Amino acid sequence: MPDNQRVVILNFGGQYCQLIARRVREAGVYCEALPHDTPIEKIRAANPIGLILSGSPASTLGPDAPYADPALLGMGAPVLGICYGMQWMAHHLGGAIESGTAREYGRVTVRFTKNTSGLTQSMPDGASCWMSHADLVTREPEGFAVLASSDNCPVAAMADPSRKLYGVQFHPEVTHTERGRDLINGFLYNICGASGDWSMESFIKQKITELRERIGGGRVLLGLSGGVDSAVTAAILSTAIGGQLTCVYVDHGLMRKDETEQVREVFEGHFDLKLIQVDASDLFFSRLEGVTEPERKRKIIGAAFVEVFAAEAAKLGGQGGIEFLAQGTTYPDVIESGQAAGAAVIKSHHNVGGLPANIGFKGLIEPIRMLFKDEVRAVGERLGLPEQLVWRQPFPGPGLAIRCLGEVTRDRIAIVRASDAILREEIAKAGLARDIQQYLTVLTGARSVGVMGDGRTYENTIAVRAVTTDDFMTSDWARIPYDALARISSRIVNEAPRVNRVVYDITTKPPASIEWE
Ligand code: XMP
Repeated sequence: MPDNQRVVILNFGGQYCQLIARRVREAGVYCEALPHDTPIEKIRAANPIGLILSGSPASTLGPDAPYADPALLGMGAPVLGICYGMQWMAHHLGGAIESGTAREYGRVTVRFTKNTSGLTQSMPDGASCWMSHADLVTREPEGFAVLASSDNCPVAAMADPSRKLYGVQFHPEVTHTERGRDLINGFLYNICGASGDWSMESFIKQKITELRERIGGGRVLLGLSGGVDSAVTAAILSTAIGGQLTCVYVDHGLMRKDETEQVREVFEGHFDLKLIQVDASDLFFSRLEGVTEPERKRKIIGAAFVEVFAAEAAKLGGQGGIEFLAQGTTYPDVIESGQAAGAAVIKSHHNVGGLPANIGFKGLIEPIRMLFKDEVRAVGERLGLPEQLVWRQPFPGPGLAIRCLGEVTRDRIAIVRASDAILREEIAKAGLARDIQQYLTVLTGARSVGVMGDGRTYENTIAVRAVTTDDFMTSDWARIPYDALARISSRIVNEAPRVNRVVYDITTKPPASIEWE
């Protein structure tokens, strides 16, 4: 745990918990999200400068109302309840809650009538705020002042400064709320006394000391995938312990053009570590022979990856022992894994992460476990990783296999790889790389008739997919200018093998997903 000032966010299961955490970090304050029923002693032990209670899909009046210990309201640390968090607070302090009579969803005009609290002083009267609730507080608990209201919501914000308890019915963490960031900053700086001591420099310094202490003279093994998370994990470990770090890069033959070479160049040239690259493509292609079902492809690739990695680890272990295994787990993975129970499995992601516990390591090291993606990138930049790696778009663990509909063979992967390289070049040339969060090509499996020269062709159809998105959970298709699309299409048909047709995917997510498989 970093020794910065810290805010604890109690997660009641609301969809915006992660967003609250990001806003607090962006404001320069370290925070952690804990489950709502975390024992009070554990919260006290974290010595928070403030607590934030998140929203929830549940009702405080329902039988399944998520529990939290009401004693946290008297801990001494300031508390900000957001949506359900405020209702929970009001419920436990003797306020009145009403259920489901006046739902509000979307942008709502909120009248800020009192601003003596340090919380809402930057909110303009009549600010547009994001609401998403069925229940509401109809009477504030004793000792509280009402700071704001809307047409449907008599208590849109409330405060009891003497007990340092605050609540807002709207969502200041959502960008649609006007001056929402200022409200969060008001809570942190005016009420909790934050000093803004969370920065990537302080993180790197502390983490390096901590890693040196924990690892001592031991050796560490890390799987490098070429993605941002494992690259930053490698960079930070190499800075901390240099040659005690061994990285294994498994080339499954499903990488994009030049990716394997780039990993070697970056890490062998600029970082002190041992890099082992394993060409396991024969194994992967033979296991994938005849397989067309997307989830089976993922399972086969995940299992083969673990097998190859574990074999390398065993070999290295035989040469004198490696005590620690490192992984590039990030904070969204941590928050989600505590939450995902019961969620429908659309695609089995993260299939490459699960190594068997029995490959014999003394400990697991996850240096970026508490960081969000933008923080991971900032750390990577400060540690000297090249821009194209730090800003690399997400690339699925199973690689090009899930962009090759139908059977995965070397020839078919070559078509996807060539078209993908052309797309990436043209997007960069058009200056669109930072505006489109993910872009890719898909070998659709459809063949169609065309003419080339004087002859008839019956060849492959490539689909181009390019999306804009904040979080990859929902996305829109990118409005790439026609001229750029024209160049992409003509180059793919001319330069990629056996393609005579290119189509552009204009579906949002949902209902489609970003990848085709
Ligand atoms: P979908 O296709 O579900 O993708 O809209 C959302 C994001 O997840 C990536 N993705 C994967 N990442 N293993 C991964 O590590 C996978 O099996 C996988 N499938 C999809 C996808 O590229 C997008 O960024």
